[in-house]
Amino acid sequence: MYRHSFLGLIMTSLALSAMTVAAYADPAAGKALVKQKCQTCHGVDGIAKIPIAPHLAGESQIYLETQLKAFRSGKRENEMMSVVAQTLTDEEITNLAEWYSSITITAKVLE
Ligand code: HEC
Repeated sequence: MYRHSFLGLIMTSLALSAMTVAAYADPAAGKALVKQKCQTCHGVDGIAKIPIAPHLAGESQIYLETQLKAFRSGKRENEMMSVVAQTLTDEEITNLAEWYSSITITAKVLE
């Protein structure tokens, strides 16, 4: 009996930690936010819609998060991105980075 409930406790905590991870990085929430705040310039697909904006599709999670936090803190400055980044929480930044990094891109190189 004791052993049984101990196992149950382990299973419950495993399930809980899996839920925490899922809540921590949520690409669907990231996509919804992209539609509200980023798509005009970077596209939902991460391919830039204005010439001065970079493509974000397939960029690594860590790079995207670092840049967004740098814009937010003022370490990196840009008249558009500094304004946008001010409105983002850590969780939103993680979700946005998760969305753009989840996009698969291919490169075609001229011979
Ligand atoms: C009004 C246009 C505009 C909007 C809206 C916008 N961006 Fe940007 N973004 C830019 C421009 C322009 C740059 C290039 C900044 C620079 O030259 O330093 C940039 C740069 C970035 C970079 C750095 C990329 C790199 O290669 O270093 C990231 C990451 C980024 N944007 C994410 C986002 C996210 C996420 C959103 C939505 C929350 C967003 N941007 C909304 C225009 C925009």
